[in-house]
Amino acid sequence: MTILLDSYNPAATASLPYREHEVIEEQKSQNQSPFIGADLDDAVYDQIAEILRKQQNFHLEGYKVLCIKRRLAARIRTVGSNEPEAYIELLKENLREQEQLMATLSIHVSQFFRNESVFQLLEKQVLPELQENSRRHSHKLRIWSVGCANGEEPYSIALLCQKHQQAEDLLSIVGTDLSPEALTRAKQGLFPAARVQNVSAEMLAECFVETGQQYQLLEEIRERVQFFRHDILADKPFYRANLILCRNLLIYFSRAQQQQIIETLATALLPGGYLVLGRAETLTSACRGLFECIDPAERIYRRVKMNEINQAD
Ligand SMILES: C[S@@+](CC[C@H](N)C(=O)[O-])C[C@H]1O[C@@H](n2cnc3c(N)ncnc32)[C@H](O)[C@@H]1O
Repeated sequence: MTILLDSYNPAATASLPYREHEVIEEQKSQNQSPFIGADLDDAVYDQIAEILRKQQNFHLEGYKVLCIKRRLAARIRTVGSNEPEAYIELLKENLREQEQLMATLSIHVSQFFRNESVFQLLEKQVLPELQENSRRHSHKLRIWSVGCANGEEPYSIALLCQKHQQAEDLLSIVGTDLSPEALTRAKQGLFPAARVQNVSAEMLAECFVETGQQYQLLEEIRERVQFFRHDILADKPFYRANLILCRNLLIYFSRAQQQQIIETLATALLPGGYLVLGRAETLTSACRGLFECIDPAERIYRRVKMNEINQAD
């Protein structure tokens, strides 16, 4: 489907389902670009970064510059401008546009059971071990989805845990993201059909209510996940976990920031806890000693315990 939005119409873009909004901007960036991003002047980039930092406390430092420039160029075109300077003037004055721009820069694409094979491995191998441990020690099993977007990832984990839950199980699942908009959508738990296509028919019928073209997760399952705004680069980790999923977030950052994020996650993991990265992501070389690789293809790692690190030294 192609929708053309040639003039500035924030209401039109804001009311589109999120994925469509992104697809339009991607199409525009690929097909109609008067400047594709790499050409965006550094001075313009810096001014936009300054406005977002001062007025929205949104920091661009650390993101891959080319990736951000491409999205900036797409947004500038969407508001109907070929003149970055004119866009800067608009941005300074218009809070709504600042929010729209931040939504464009933070990519919230996700899906239930995204890359299904990793969830199969979590269900067969990782979660049973963690559930068994927490039962044995009467501890709460703690799971953190970092960069959870609209909630698909932590809810997928909640669905798996529910499938194998025993009455006495203690469970805490937390989803965090930089974007308040994404978190609002996550709490609503309302998803278009494309986002739930990997959910089995049985689970869909049992755990979702179909409303029009959308599927809403049952309240009793939504209540199992707590959502918080948290910037994994700037804020201190406030949660310690047995399992952390941080998928498809590192790719937006430079190597130095990836390193900082992985170190933060290593600190937040409880001894022997697991880390799952996205398919296109790997540990930075300086962090490899902190983890044992459990499954290289699925990017599953286990935090090495302190005494294991000492023995290896
Ligand atoms: C592509 S989505 C990944 C969603 C999900 N983890 C998955 O793999 O399907 C990336 C998410 O990371 C979030 N994000 C970007 N920078 C972040 C930061 N510094 N701290 C926390 N979340 C961030 C974005 O807002 C976006 O929702």
